[in-house]
Amino acid sequence: MPKSLESWRVFIAIELSRDVRHRIKRHIDQLRSELPDVRASWVREENLHLTLKFLGDTPVDRVEAISKALAAAAGHRPTFDIQLAGCGAFPPRGKPNVLWIGIEDNSGGLKQLHGEIEDACAAAGFARDSRSFHPHLTIARLRQPPGARELAHLHETIGFAPLDVTATEVCLIRSELSSAGSRYTILARNKLQ
Ligand code: 2AM
Repeated sequence: MPKSLESWRVFIAIELSRDVRHRIKRHIDQLRSELPDVRASWVREENLHLTLKFLGDTPVDRVEAISKALAAAAGHRPTFDIQLAGCGAFPPRGKPNVLWIGIEDNSGGLKQLHGEIEDACAAAGFARDSRSFHPHLTIARLRQPPGARELAHLHETIGFAPLDVTATEVCLIRSELSSAGSRYTILARNKLQ
């Protein structure tokens, strides 16, 4: 395919440290060991991240423009602290599709960074997210109804003890989907100051 017609599925996210990912993995392992027969697509430890903006399929020749918009938005922002806390499912009622760990943004740094990224991407011609920003970490996607409610209930009951995280960089990431799961490639890293 000529490069101009090719598109990449891209998104903007904050990576998590190895220690934080490991803490989340321990929570996942506990759920899996207590309910081994419930089927779920668990996010692999190395893929755990906090999404700020999902751009989806993007012509390859527009990826550079996103990268520049992200660099402009993130380059002058300070590092900030967030807290991982609490467990829930989407949708909150009915059959759960997604299990998540919550994000608290007491400093407001995450909301500000998200707003600047939206503004910079919009100025570069990319659509704003139609939905409001509800930061969360997805740990599993549930496609099989049997046991889904039970798994979501266990996840919420076990909970996730609050964990402070400092956001130090924002990445532009390419996602390639396959039957073996998503493969993520970091296209650009932008350090916060
Ligand atoms: P999620 O964690 O809530 O599933 C890569 O797919 C990342 O982009 C995921 O973290 C995912 O969020 C996020 N994302 C947001 N909107 C999406 C969409 N419409 N399709 C796929 N991923 C999306």
